[in-house]
Amino acid sequence: MQIFFVASEVTPIAKVGGLGDVIGALPKALYKLGVKVSIITGYYGTHDENKYPTKILFKSKLFWGVNDIIYTVRQGVLPGSRVKVYFIDQPEIIGSGSVYDSRTALANNQSEIERFLFLCKAAVFLPGFIGIKNDIWHLHDWHAAALVEFLSPDSAPTLLTIHNLANQGWATQDTLAKAGILTQKQEINIFRLGLEKATWLSTVSPTYAQEIQKSPEGEGLEEVIKARRHELTGIVNGVDIDFFNPVTDKFLADKLKSNLDDFKNSNKQALFKFINLPQSSVPLFGIVSRLTSQKGIDLIVNGLEPYLQQGSLRFVFLGMGDPALEKALKNLAVSYPRAVAGKIGFDEKLAHLIYAASDFFLMPSRFEPCGLGQLIAMRYGSVPIVRSTGGLKDTVIDIEFNKGNGLVFFDYKPEALGQAIIRALDLYNNRGKLEIVRQSARQRDSSWLTSAKEYYNLYKSLCILKNQN
Ligand code: GLC
Repeated sequence: MQIFFVASEVTPIAKVGGLGDVIGALPKALYKLGVKVSIITGYYGTHDENKYPTKILFKSKLFWGVNDIIYTVRQGVLPGSRVKVYFIDQPEIIGSGSVYDSRTALANNQSEIERFLFLCKAAVFLPGFIGIKNDIWHLHDWHAAALVEFLSPDSAPTLLTIHNLANQGWATQDTLAKAGILTQKQEINIFRLGLEKATWLSTVSPTYAQEIQKSPEGEGLEEVIKARRHELTGIVNGVDIDFFNPVTDKFLADKLKSNLDDFKNSNKQALFKFINLPQSSVPLFGIVSRLTSQKGIDLIVNGLEPYLQQGSLRFVFLGMGDPALEKALKNLAVSYPRAVAGKIGFDEKLAHLIYAASDFFLMPSRFEPCGLGQLIAMRYGSVPIVRSTGGLKDTVIDIEFNKGNGLVFFDYKPEALGQAIIRALDLYNNRGKLEIVRQSARQRDSSWLTSAKEYYNLYKSLCILKNQN
């Protein structure tokens, strides 16, 4: 079976958020099951040829707006695998900047919309050009959704995976006209286009699959999704368990041997040194996150404050995104210089240190399609504190229950998070129970193989569906 993925991000080549992590890992797991996956993505202005070398395969052209536009197809490989990555290289349209125009990754202007329309239109011809028969188009998020518009009726079936419905991509009449899509409407929602036309839909957790059939999680598309609820599957993401492995992790000051306390203590020392916080014995809370309103950063800032005042905890953060949220975190660090520190930006080493050193990992999201941070944190014995929504609900079991591996709260309110923090502080003082919870967290199977098997079954049923029609 041969599958073509189309996506805007691929970790580690071009990563902004969790979408990239999925595209960088799922194909490898599918390969282990005998499914050949190739990825088609953009060749962005920020591409690092030294790190991720590509070779030029051929040049072609697309009719775009009023004339032909030449583009180059390059081929590289997903590091550490045999997965081929095809890059559409068009310097003005695709390569004019980094992956997205905005730090939050939320589509906000027409140049970005045009970039992904171009990617989709060029992608359609790629399997034919290189002489590979494609069995399934696996499209990811709005960036790849427009591909359905350019396919011929006899093409391979399409699976459109929703990683985040809050980001939809609105194309104006003019932008659409460049791609040859003619409409009377002033604007068209590209995600909707894909959701209506793709052969099948999936999203990254069963709970999110239910939630997006209603408002607010449906983000205005709830009716479209509800109408297709029998053609919608929820499959929880995995994480790259080789990369996020505390036993072998090269970013850490100390790797996990047998004792989690020793492991956490030595990594805490290194982390505190790295970010300039004095050593301390109170529990450490951490976040590694895109800083958007989705992630509940406002809740963290307000919810933590009373406990910071009491001196009962430490807090470290890493992430970037919405300037107002970046500022709120920086202000918190200014107000509590001995208890709060962090970095605005992207830093792989610091991220791993936070997973390893933190006792608790905060993810109080407003909504969360799947969430990867809580899965990674669990592997490092950092107990997740999550709001019960989407994939967080599907992956974290409250410590009240058998095999509990985290703390779950419900209302999107600082007080509700506060209650969870109080329970976390109690747990921290009950070392016996803490050890059991950490072990349950460590034992959760978050390997991609489990999810890849579910995708494989879905691909097979789509092929059968296609043959029946
Ligand atoms: C998006 C979602 C996140 C999900 C990721 C990968 O970033 O916000 O919940 O884990 O995509 O599917």
